Amino acid sequence: MLVTGIEILQDAHKNNYAVGAFNVNNMEIVQAIIEAAEETNSPVILQASQGGLKYAGVEYIAALGKLAAEKAKVPVALHLDHGTDFDQVMLCIRHGFSSVMIDGSRFELEGNIAITKKVIEVAHAVGVSVEAELGKIGGTEDDIVVDERDATFTDPKEAKKFVEETNVDYLAIAVGTAHGVYKGEPKLDFERIKTIKEMVNIPLVLHGSSGVPKEAIEKAVSLGINKINIDTDLRMAFSNAIKDFLKENPDNIDPRKILGPAKEAMKEVIKEKMELFGSAGRA
Ligand code: G3H
Ligand code: ZN
Repeated sequence: MLVTGIEILQDAHKNNYAVGAFNVNNMEIVQAIIEAAEETNSPVILQASQGGLKYAGVEYIAALGKLAAEKAKVPVALHLDHGTDFDQVMLCIRHGFSSVMIDGSRFELEGNIAITKKVIEVAHAVGVSVEAELGKIGGTEDDIVVDERDATFTDPKEAKKFVEETNVDYLAIAVGTAHGVYKGEPKLDFERIKTIKEMVNIPLVLHGSSGVPKEAIEKAVSLGINKINIDTDLRMAFSNAIKDFLKENPDNIDPRKILGPAKEAMKEVIKEKMELFGSAGRA
């Protein structure tokens, strides 16, 4: 069933677990995520980035996501990932997304608060949940590129002010992760997660979570992370399976035969994440 993001994340916040938010770009990816969620009895968030919407079209993503959610036996939210402008967010709300992210992290604090409040006024009026980002997460997520030197950790005092002034539903924080493939091992600032959680007491979101060691994810969840964004790990599982299949079957030209194993490989990765995050069995 299609539910709002806050419906899923409020339970995660209360009961100390996290829900995976997985990026979708086509039908096979949507199916892999929903099948994994049903097989582990897990709530789940399907999310589309602006790049994903440009690739597939907002109508296709919305139709696929809503159909998958309606057919699913587990709670599913359809979320806009890293929406950077007001009009884009409104377009997603109009197409039936049940959760949106307004990423105003490129602005100074007051500018970020202003654009977040503007989105929340409309989104909350129509029952759509909102995620915002405070601090700057490094790395590359589709067309959003933040140089490592420009990445800044979230300030706990600013987070408190931000949450009080905007009434945001869940907050993405910068605590040492980055988008894309890591060069070394990411070092998370656990103390910062703990402090922010104590100060804001709302669901917290971890971006750039692919490639983060399992122990670090477990600790981050125990300290208050409730939404975990995963894209790169899924891309790798999908494309590696395609490469392997074509290496073994170079003459095969059937897209179903090529994409089928890719979908299955992605599904296995998602199921492992659901167990790790603690969302398995929570639907
Ligand atoms: O918003 C999406 C993510 O933060 C995904 O990051 O590609 O590093 O898993 P990732
Ligand atoms: Zn992200």
